Amino acid sequence: MGFNVAVDGPAGAGKSTIAKAVAKELNLIYVDTGAMYRAIALFMLREGVDLSDRQAIIEKCPRADVTIRYEDGVQVVFLNGENVNAFLRTEEVGETASVISPIPEVRKNMVALQKELAAHSDCIMDGRDIGTCVLPDARLKIYLTASSEVRAKRRYDELAAKGVESDFQKIKADIEERDYRDMHREISPLKKAEDAVIVDTSDMTVDEVIASILKLCRDARQR
Ligand code: DC
Repeated sequence: MGFNVAVDGPAGAGKSTIAKAVAKELNLIYVDTGAMYRAIALFMLREGVDLSDRQAIIEKCPRADVTIRYEDGVQVVFLNGENVNAFLRTEEVGETASVISPIPEVRKNMVALQKELAAHSDCIMDGRDIGTCVLPDARLKIYLTASSEVRAKRRYDELAAKGVESDFQKIKADIEERDYRDMHREISPLKKAEDAVIVDTSDMTVDEVIASILKLCRDARQR
């Protein structure tokens, strides 16, 4: 195994922004595991699967072939051979990913793919179960978090910047519901690995978070 950094934490904590910046600075591959679950979610939505029908999801799983490629350092997700990056970031796909990801049949191939990527490259990988399950031997584990209030405010501002009006209380309630689901599922729930370093970004700027994580990575590399 090379130099692997695991980053876990709740939705909206800034994992992908931070991990992308750190990857660029340290010349690591950034592996966004949420995108893989989102690709399966997109498949289920396109197939019109009843999301309350667990058996139907399980039966469809083998027909969703998710592969990953890196083009100019950017992760490209292929679903049955189609580049689906442009379809993965919607609220609907994110919600659906949170609903289907507790199912072991959904996780099995994704975890294998993630382990394989880490075995062959120096990477920073973000998700919910990276430090606890996918890369238990990662050189550095980070648990990135922020209050739900702050995460909702960031999301609200992001939408406002795009000219989209939204309801702050609804965004906050959705975030809290997603946290609950991700933290209380039976299989690979979101939780801090015992040996993870907690970084609470509630009162930090993006640049401050990046600087603190770069320092943790550089220290870990020298160990
Ligand atoms: O990080 P994200 O919002 O792209 O993740 C979407 C959903 O996928 C998230 O609600 C839970 C699930 N997920 C997971 O179960 N395990 C991971 N390693 C990453 C994401």
